[in-house]
Amino acid sequence: MGKVFVQTFGCQMNVYDTGKIHALLGKDGYEPTESMDDADVIIVNTCSIREKPELKLHSFLGEALKIKRTQDRPVTVAVAGCVAQQEGDKLLKRYRELDLVFGPDAVPRVRDLVSAAGSEVPRATKQVLDTQFLDLDTYVFASDLDPASEGQVGAFVTIQKGCDNKCTFCIVPSTRGPEVSRPSDQIVAEVQALVDTGVREITLIGQNVNSYGLKVAGERTFAQLLYAVSDVKGVERIRYTTSHPRDMGPDVIQAYRDLPKLTSHLHLPVQSGSSRVLRRMKRFYTRERFLDVVEQLKDARPDIVLSTDFIVGFPGESDEDFEETMTLLDIVGFESSFSFKYSQRPDTPALRLLKHEVPHDVAQARLMRLQARQREISRQANEALAGQTHAVLVEGPSRYDEGVVCGRTSTFKIVNFPGSLDQIGHTVDVSIIAGFTNSLRGEPALFA
Ligand code: SAH
Ligand code: SF4
Ligand code: F3S
Repeated sequence: MGKVFVQTFGCQMNVYDTGKIHALLGKDGYEPTESMDDADVIIVNTCSIREKPELKLHSFLGEALKIKRTQDRPVTVAVAGCVAQQEGDKLLKRYRELDLVFGPDAVPRVRDLVSAAGSEVPRATKQVLDTQFLDLDTYVFASDLDPASEGQVGAFVTIQKGCDNKCTFCIVPSTRGPEVSRPSDQIVAEVQALVDTGVREITLIGQNVNSYGLKVAGERTFAQLLYAVSDVKGVERIRYTTSHPRDMGPDVIQAYRDLPKLTSHLHLPVQSGSSRVLRRMKRFYTRERFLDVVEQLKDARPDIVLSTDFIVGFPGESDEDFEETMTLLDIVGFESSFSFKYSQRPDTPALRLLKHEVPHDVAQARLMRLQARQREISRQANEALAGQTHAVLVEGPSRYDEGVVCGRTSTFKIVNFPGSLDQIGHTVDVSIIAGFTNSLRGEPALFA
């Protein structure tokens, strides 16, 4: 019986892939461990979306290889995920003791890879590489359930891999390869299997979920998939991420009218409020089109809460462009957002725009202004909820106080309220008594 330690950086795709790695290696008798020192196999699942997450790999590897060097049993050290795909062989050359480098498409083959890279002798190294991309005809999604998601309140289910867009700032198309939609029957089967273990909330994940199925003859569209998942008995809530504003069509908007299980929250990354910048980013929508989509969504689901991603300091972003981002934030009233300074990524088209690079201090000042305004909007929106009653799906104990549990509203707001652990997995009506920047406080609603 071996032990495997997986450190996960990056997005939901990596969280999901880590789950699959545990499920697959579990078939060979590997148990997950929380301690790197105990592990026979150490895997770091990496992200390269910006420079900072990429740097995390190198400090992590230093530690992992030290363990390999000092144990008197064999330890296999592997790099997985987007940096593995991007750097491939270069990682093996830079770290001569590294055993295995495999990209996101190789996750379904992880059992063979770990067994090929493993040694009987402590400190020995074979150096195995698998960064092969698979396409529609060859890619097989692993169907084994992540043991850690069984019986949880919420679980991710991947619906597609890769991305066929070419947003000029983005590394993902080259680290995750071509878009492949997972057969919808398999998705529905996985949802059913998760629900059978007690899961209540399903989050469908992909880099561009709205384009799901479009390239496969006879496959369901994304909207049709939403209806199919909604039909699975036992599913209480459906979320999805990430959608591309360009592909947010009338059929998905209609689903907000038809499907009560579809939650009243949507993460819709806009990146910039300036059509000029959006064109340079090759996002293929304008500020006006984005606002139009927002209007339609609010019309279909009046209580919908929107969140987004922003990039500031994209090459060529002028003061006026940035002001348009600031006004868009106010007009849409995004209740939360992730915002980042543009980060140069290897071999991405935006590198050609670097003669228009925005100075670092200008970008930093813009980021601070955007984030300060976002905090204000978030706090005001949350304060305004005081006095309302919301259905809260309880996820677990509060991190801070005993006798307090924590859950989310349909609008994805975190609510802490006095409750008991047997409420976990149940939906409870909660009166909101206070709102803060990132969460709400409530008390159980009383009915006369
Ligand atoms: N597929 C999703 C986004 C995935 S990446 C979409 O299309 O929206 C998550 C977020 O990281 C992006 O929305 C973007 O805001 C940010 N991001 C991606 N590349 C970046 C870069 N080079 N510099 C800064 N932020 C970046
Ligand atoms: Fe990157 Fe654009 Fe694909 Fe999102 S849609 S993963 S930002 S290329
Ligand atoms: Fe990072 Fe790869 Fe996800 S670059 S954000 S882990 S797709």
